[in-house]
Amino acid sequence: MMKAAWYDRKGPARDVLQVGSVDTPEPGLQEVRVRVRASAVNPSDTKGRSGARGKTAMPFPRIIPHQDGAGVIDRVGEGVPASRVGERVWVYEAQLGRATGTAAEYVVVPAANAVTLPDNTSFAEGACLGIPAMTAHRCIFGDGPVQGQRILVAGGAGAVGFYAVQFAKWGGAASVIATVSRDAQAAAATSAGADHVINYRSENVAGRARDLTEGRGIDRIVDVAFGANLETSIAVLNPNGVISTYASDAVPEPKIPFWTILGKDITIHFVLVYAMPKSAHQRAAADITTCLSGNKLRHNIAKRFPLEEIAQAHEAVEKGDKIGNVIVEIAGAG
Ligand SMILES: NC(=O)c1ccc[n+]([C@@H]2O[C@H](COP(=O)([O-])OP(=O)(O)OC[C@H]3O[C@@H](n4cnc5c(N)ncnc54)[C@H](OP(=O)(O)O)[C@@H]3O)[C@@H](O)[C@H]2O)c1
Repeated sequence: MMKAAWYDRKGPARDVLQVGSVDTPEPGLQEVRVRVRASAVNPSDTKGRSGARGKTAMPFPRIIPHQDGAGVIDRVGEGVPASRVGERVWVYEAQLGRATGTAAEYVVVPAANAVTLPDNTSFAEGACLGIPAMTAHRCIFGDGPVQGQRILVAGGAGAVGFYAVQFAKWGGAASVIATVSRDAQAAAATSAGADHVINYRSENVAGRARDLTEGRGIDRIVDVAFGANLETSIAVLNPNGVISTYASDAVPEPKIPFWTILGKDITIHFVLVYAMPKSAHQRAAADITTCLSGNKLRHNIAKRFPLEEIAQAHEAVEKGDKIGNVIVEIAGAG
């Protein structure tokens, strides 16, 4: 048996999340079992648990939540080399199409979803990578090279935005501008490597971005709030520019000014990490490994909770004011 957190129905974190003992899983064909040391809470996990956007039905009778985590492979299934036992790994999409995620002492995942974690990166840092870093990678590199481009990362202090700023710099962008809404976010975006920050609540983003780029404008936007920012995005984006967007919580059904967008030959890329092609996952994993090994990626852990306080960890994400990733640390035997 192993310790795990789960829910049997959807609802508020405190009402539905439980911690107790369940059967320890066994790896099957092309799978590995990971002794989890850190499990991350992403908005996708909290939305799945709460039944956001009307998704109140349980896809499985019992769900152990969380897509992302990090730990050590302790057992391999058929078709996986035994030499992987003992490997430190970060894990992505553990719960995709499955009932069992990383909020447990052990998780079984497809072998490809457990990626080597270099010794210079802690388990808590490794757990930050899956959804945030892979989404950021797709947003930055999903539409060609960014070398020499001017990039605006809206929400540059968010979990995804923080990695998007770093990938833009790593990819050779000429200038990276991050939007933020307060000083602590400005500090986070700057620590990620942003050349400039703009407070999107108190400043005119389009005007400031034009000034900061000496009138050259923006070639690519990575956007956390597509609908809310669309007017500004269109105003500041150069012809043939790209908006890569991964969320639109405040304005979920934005009105699209078709002719204005068409007039600039703008590409809008709606990015969903779960639906990225396999090749994009592989490329993201490879680039993340290269960056980690070269000490090129920073991580921003906002808060840590023990597994017993998983409900508080979910609430910390839902509150919406944390800067960085929320981690559930999993102690225990083994
Ligand atoms: N499509 C995908 O594959 C994918 C992947 C990961 C996440 N997501 C979604 O993306 C969203 C953010 O996830 P996260 O983990 O990065 O959350 P997070 O760490 O809470 O970051 C969200 C950031 O967006 C900022 N923000 C909100 N409205 C903004 C606006 N109009 N302009 C600029 N910044 C704004 C927030 O700052 P303030 O509100 O304080 O200004 C905050 O810094 C969630 O809805 C999540 O479900 C989607």
